[in-house]
Amino acid sequence: MSSSTARSASGPGEVLVAEDLGVSIDHRNGSSTRLVEGLDLVIQSGSSTAVVGRSGSGKTTLLSVLGLMRPPSAGRLYIAGRDVGTLRPSVAAGLRNELLGFVFQNYSLVEHLSVFENVALPLMYGRRATRPQVRERVERQLTAVGLREFGRRRPRSLSGGEQQRVAIARALVRGPRLVLADEPTGALDTATGTSVMKHLQEATVEAGAALIVVTHDDALADSLHRRVDLSSREAAVAL
Ligand SMILES: Nc1ncnc2c1ncn2[C@@H]1O[C@H](COP(=O)(O)OP(=O)(O)OP(=O)(O)O)[C@@H](O)[C@H]1O
Ligand SMILES: [Mg+2]
Repeated sequence: MSSSTARSASGPGEVLVAEDLGVSIDHRNGSSTRLVEGLDLVIQSGSSTAVVGRSGSGKTTLLSVLGLMRPPSAGRLYIAGRDVGTLRPSVAAGLRNELLGFVFQNYSLVEHLSVFENVALPLMYGRRATRPQVRERVERQLTAVGLREFGRRRPRSLSGGEQQRVAIARALVRGPRLVLADEPTGALDTATGTSVMKHLQEATVEAGAALIVVTHDDALADSLHRRVDLSSREAAVAL
């Protein structure tokens, strides 16, 4: 669907709608590389989507566009019914905190904070929760990923799989509409990765959010509802 008629809002249950979306990288010498062109995507709440493709095909860059960290180069993008294709950086940051959760390959936990404080971090920005609300939300998420007893520990004292489950709890603690994960199991062995993915899917569905996961792992991609393959598209066109 790459119609030219812009829609004003997405339908019920549609967390993200991309229409004719383009993603490109601008280089310092004035040239640019088009990584994604004409992407149409409708992401429903409670669904899970794998983004696959060879190294350099633009998976991480696409995720940063869907995650409101960089603007699309073409097309339209709606998240939770809002037109987010062109936003001022401060507005994008607010919406990111309100609507999105992120999980990265390397956990990105803050070392000098406890597990509890790491999970509570997203609640410290924007509309502030009360202390009892923070406690209740953090404990609910830690319980969902099987780490209820780990709140006082430091990230360094946890295994890689446990740290990634803390990152999942942090991504979900504010009740996001959409969780974006970039190779969340890339640093883990297969068995741990499978268990972390199970937590990510279950906790996301439980929270009523949608999930988009960038992965190189075919089995993992197969376990999700659908896949977007950037390699099979007309990708990486040098301009
Ligand atoms: N800031 C940047 N400046 C210049 N080129 C960039 C920049 N960011 C990404 N690229 C280039 O864009 C292309 C896509 O990068 P991206 O990181 O999105 O790929 P990927 O599909 O995530 O790859 P991988 O599987 O290796 O993580 C690569 O060729 C990369 O070198
Ligand atoms: Mg990448």
